[in-house]
Amino acid sequence: MSRIVSVVGARPNFMKVAPLYEEIKSRGGKQILVHTGQHYDENMSKIFFEDLSMPKPDIYYGIGSGSHASQTAKVMLEFEKTLSEINPALVIVVGDVNSTLACALVCAKMRIPIAHVESGLRSFDMDMPEEVNRILTDSISDFLLTPSIDANENLLKEGIKQEKIHFVGNIMIDSLYRSLKKSRESTILKYFNLESADFGLLTLHRPSNVDDQKSLLHLVESACMASQMAPMIFPVHPRTRKLLISNSMEKLIQGANLTLCNPLGYLDFINLLSHSKFVLTDSGGIQEETTALGIPCLTLRENTERPITVSTGTNTIVGKDRELILTKVSDIMGGSGKKGKIPKFWDGKTASRISDVIQFAIS
Ligand code: UD1
Repeated sequence: MSRIVSVVGARPNFMKVAPLYEEIKSRGGKQILVHTGQHYDENMSKIFFEDLSMPKPDIYYGIGSGSHASQTAKVMLEFEKTLSEINPALVIVVGDVNSTLACALVCAKMRIPIAHVESGLRSFDMDMPEEVNRILTDSISDFLLTPSIDANENLLKEGIKQEKIHFVGNIMIDSLYRSLKKSRESTILKYFNLESADFGLLTLHRPSNVDDQKSLLHLVESACMASQMAPMIFPVHPRTRKLLISNSMEKLIQGANLTLCNPLGYLDFINLLSHSKFVLTDSGGIQEETTALGIPCLTLRENTERPITVSTGTNTIVGKDRELILTKVSDIMGGSGKKGKIPKFWDGKTASRISDVIQFAIS
């Protein structure tokens, strides 16, 4: 019986692998789940396995934090050993984190077929480490599984053969739709006293926003100003926490209607998100989730690798433009926030379409 290895490493990977793992299992496929341990905190990793009802990983490397080179190299060394032992029929990697590229590279050298889920997204910004990971992973993958038609176009322009590219839709939305009902059991709204409030959410973790003190201060200050129009919740990513503390921004935040908390689990976050009035974020996945939920999203970046969320969905790119951020929040609170449509194949059936493409490795 052939086997499929699925790789997870960092927080945004878990909700992409969970529905696919379940679908492959329901079709009788034999699977091995590898967790590289790029993210390792309880609230960045373990809680997602519980919230998404994922089985414990079969193999865990615990590679942890480090420079890009050391993270990537450590994963490669471990993954080579794993593949030598298992010799799978297919390896599935998702998204654009360092673990994604590291595992894809090992497969390419060992001539093991690779399926890349969320293929073809491009920000055209090589300052983003994720952009490097996206381009390189796609260039060596065998099955390029795209979330939107713009991704197909990007891949074709890069010279990738049409027969490798499969438009399957957005796997994150499978997890979102499956978890919405369960997320209603979360008590997070009560915890933050938001049961009958119009509130906003803030998330920040991109190196270009949070690794530079001035930039982080500017964005937090903008959010504090926006919080005069609606209370805001700010689950703080570990990368961001370091600078927030060292920057002693406490006074600024204390004077605002902005509540900081630790990173939230998936169900708590989805519950907050689905009840929110607007979101300020630099995350990729949240741009998609807000589009699927019809909630206005203001993206605190100069570009997006997910342009369909802007052209079709509820997303607006605002960068670090404070005036624009405040105007948009005011519009939203006044009832004229951006209304979008749901892109094609963001329908909760992506895991099934992917499984059709990789059926050879399942049976
Ligand atoms: C990584 C991904 C990014 C993704 C993000 C989601 C890469 C290049 N980046 O960025 O694409 O959007 O995850 O969260 O792969 N840390 C902890 N606990 C953890 C994880 C991280 O304390 O569980 C700290 C570490 O000290 C580390 C820092 O956060 O130095 C950043 O973690 P890292 O994995 O390097 O990248 P992210 O910024 O999380």
